[in-house]
Amino acid sequence: MNQAIDPYDPEPFRALGHQFVDKIADYLQRCHDVIPGEHDSFPVLDVRRPEDLEQAFESPLLAHPEGPERDRSHDLLDAILAASNHLHQRGYVGHQVAAPLPGAILWDMLSSLMNNGMAVYEMGQLQTILERRCVRWMAERIGYGPGAGGLLTSGGSLGNLTALLAARQHMTGSWDGGFEESGQLAVFVSADAHYCVARSMQIMGHGKDSVVRVPVDAKHRMRTELLPELFEATVQAGRRPMAVVSSSCGTSTGAFDNLQAIADFCEERELWLHVDGAHGASHLLSAKHRHTLEGIERAHSVVWDAHKLMLLPALITGVIFREQQHAASSFAQEASYLFEDASAAYDLGHRTLECTKRAMGVTLYASLSTYGTEVFARNVELTVGLARAFADHLETCTDFRLALRPETNIVCFRYEPGNVEGAQLNALQDSLRKRVVRQGHHYLVQTRLDGDLYLRTTLMNPRTKLEDLQQLLDQLRGLHSQK
Ligand SMILES: Cc1ncc(COP(=O)(O)O)c(C=O)c1O
Repeated sequence: MNQAIDPYDPEPFRALGHQFVDKIADYLQRCHDVIPGEHDSFPVLDVRRPEDLEQAFESPLLAHPEGPERDRSHDLLDAILAASNHLHQRGYVGHQVAAPLPGAILWDMLSSLMNNGMAVYEMGQLQTILERRCVRWMAERIGYGPGAGGLLTSGGSLGNLTALLAARQHMTGSWDGGFEESGQLAVFVSADAHYCVARSMQIMGHGKDSVVRVPVDAKHRMRTELLPELFEATVQAGRRPMAVVSSSCGTSTGAFDNLQAIADFCEERELWLHVDGAHGASHLLSAKHRHTLEGIERAHSVVWDAHKLMLLPALITGVIFREQQHAASSFAQEASYLFEDASAAYDLGHRTLECTKRAMGVTLYASLSTYGTEVFARNVELTVGLARAFADHLETCTDFRLALRPETNIVCFRYEPGNVEGAQLNALQDSLRKRVVRQGHHYLVQTRLDGDLYLRTTLMNPRTKLEDLQQLLDQLRGLHSQK
């Protein structure tokens, strides 16, 4: 460390911090000014080869060993901005990650400074209370009663694992004694479910055959009428059904499983019902789209990502249980150096895989209280409304095929010009997507549906307009005609 610099000196931090905020605000303005199709110099993603970036940063810490910290910080800030995927541009229509509200990131910064890890109440007093408020807020939106409880954790994948661990504990009570027949449990899940459900079961030691994939219908919803026969076949095969996981909604297409039908089945067979609402649970905020989750209050547990449709920075995930006691059953651990009283209700470390964790409740609580819940409800309505308008437009185009009517802000489609057929259509989507991304006006992704490759857009940015999406279609046509 350079002896002349006190790394804790607040004054250089103040100066650098002001400059950083100015630069970030300028950056946001630049993002806002970009109109897809009308710029060349500021691509949504400036695609770089990993080898080149690796070479450029071969020895970053030695780049200017004696130079002033400020200059190195500015260089690095510029480099990170330049090489990032610019979610705040209207042309970003890629994966399900929010373009975060700039006001929200300030609360993240404060949490980083305080570093109050919250495993125990004393290591994050108000942080703990704010997390509990957020959990209660989510539980109320779900329609749970006062007996509900839960936690915030780092992402939907970890959230689904946490809920499935609670389900297993509820069904088998195996946390302390272990589970001798670990190969024998089973969960039922839509064939379109996010991979993290299978991964959770595999982490839990049940193997990949513990996941029974229920086929989907033409709208990519779980065919719930098949559940009874799959249940019987599973029992016949020697497995014990544990839970049904509803995709609410599925990642690829945004289809919502029929929760009422799944809840009926689970109640009849005494199975745990878990709702993977990582993406779709935010529909609860909109009076117009809440119906997609009808019956959610009948679930034992729900996962809800605030970093998807709620405009907040990753990661902020609620794992909400209908009955409070399940929140503490996933990880009941004695650790005298932390939890003096194993039942301490305010020690969040009992409830999560994480010990020290980010105070994500601060960012969620502050954003809800400063912007008001309306901003988030409006975002759902705006982006889902745009998806519907985009789908309407696609249906008028004879050279594009819409995969299915969107229920959320996800639209899958493919370009089908008359002169390309069969398997070559898949290769066409793939090559066009890569070329569009390289052009820099848009960033979109792809997915496979029933074996065919589709272009996939998630309309995450509330500033994206229908004409930006029409421009995307024109660009696909133009690139194809250029060959
Ligand atoms: C339905 C669903 N579940 C789980 C996840 C994983 O969430 P995370 O990326 O927060 O771990 C996703 C992510 O796209 C998802 O769409």
